[in-house]
Amino acid sequence: MGLLNFLKDTIGIDPGSKHLRIIKDNELVFNEPAQLSFDKTLKVVTGLGNSIKLTDNNVTINPVDCTINDFHAFEMLLRGAVKKTISSNSIFPKTYKLYFCIPTSTTEIEKRAYRDSAEHVGAIEVHMIHQSCCSAIGLNILFEKKHFMLIDFGFSKIEMTVFINSDPISVGVIRMGTSKIYRLIKNFLKRKYKIHLNDIEIESLLSELKTVEDEITIQYIVVKTHEIHQLLDNFFHIVNDEFIEAMERVDLNQIEKAKSTGIYFTGGGSTIDLLRDKIMCNHSIKRTVSQNPLLDNINGVKKVITQEDKFKKYTMV
Ligand SMILES: Nc1ncnc2c1ncn2[C@@H]1O[C@H](COP(=O)(O)OP(=O)(O)OP(=O)(O)O)[C@@H](O)[C@H]1O
Ligand SMILES: [Mg+2]
Repeated sequence: MGLLNFLKDTIGIDPGSKHLRIIKDNELVFNEPAQLSFDKTLKVVTGLGNSIKLTDNNVTINPVDCTINDFHAFEMLLRGAVKKTISSNSIFPKTYKLYFCIPTSTTEIEKRAYRDSAEHVGAIEVHMIHQSCCSAIGLNILFEKKHFMLIDFGFSKIEMTVFINSDPISVGVIRMGTSKIYRLIKNFLKRKYKIHLNDIEIESLLSELKTVEDEITIQYIVVKTHEIHQLLDNFFHIVNDEFIEAMERVDLNQIEKAKSTGIYFTGGGSTIDLLRDKIMCNHSIKRTVSQNPLLDNINGVKKVITQEDKFKKYTMV
């Protein structure tokens, strides 16, 4: 153990587009919206997570859209979240060993953005693990099932990873998730029917649509349900094509092994039955939905930190 190791905290981060989650000492210490407010005149951050300021003078910034899309804002969010949750009584500045779980489809350029941001908030060691591996670890299937498919249905992306012999060997991603789907429906209802819905109303509409047949009444206006299904089907046609391609890239014998175990669903979007059911035309493949889809990633990071040697080959520096 190094002389100054007592000054080094290990923290794990799931930098989601909707939620930022941070763990330290096996505890989830931050689980709030990945957003901050910025005062346009004073040019300072005025709040983050659940405590942003919503006055006219403030703009709300969401620095993650699948991966980091605003480098400085992300750093400010990370710095603020770490400061808010990890108080230090030491007279010495704290340094961090930091584990990021990043989308499996992250490019090398995007990886550099994570590494740089981590270093700017005081990380002296940065490790990255693909989110699909984290979720599989969090779900206890990585070594237990070996061959399977995992779909992370998030706010900004829907990503499918095929695992063979516990290795992620093929990935398909559409960088659009619940956020775009909700906007598609909102825009359609606004433009055609002058109906204005918020996200919560869209979510309850999606659960009603599962059982309603031809027509649905929204704000006293009758809407044909097939129109909304058509919108969703068009969107999921592209998603399904991407996923079939990812499966076609895998050797025939191997993909059969993965198919026989089936598909595991994680990520917040997988809790919405109607949307999840539109993924993959082939419903003969067994489908399992995670019991804890919002926290599988960060739970996986937790295990990677506590059992470093076991998961060493999945971490990247
Ligand atoms: N209990 C819940 N709380 C919040 N969001 C929920 C909940 N249940 C389902 N959702 C859905 O989950 C979505 C967020 O999913 P998730 O937290 O997996 O995204 P993320 O990890 O932040 O984003 P991404 O992985 O795409 O970067 C929300 O848009 C919402 O539609
Ligand atoms: Mg996520």
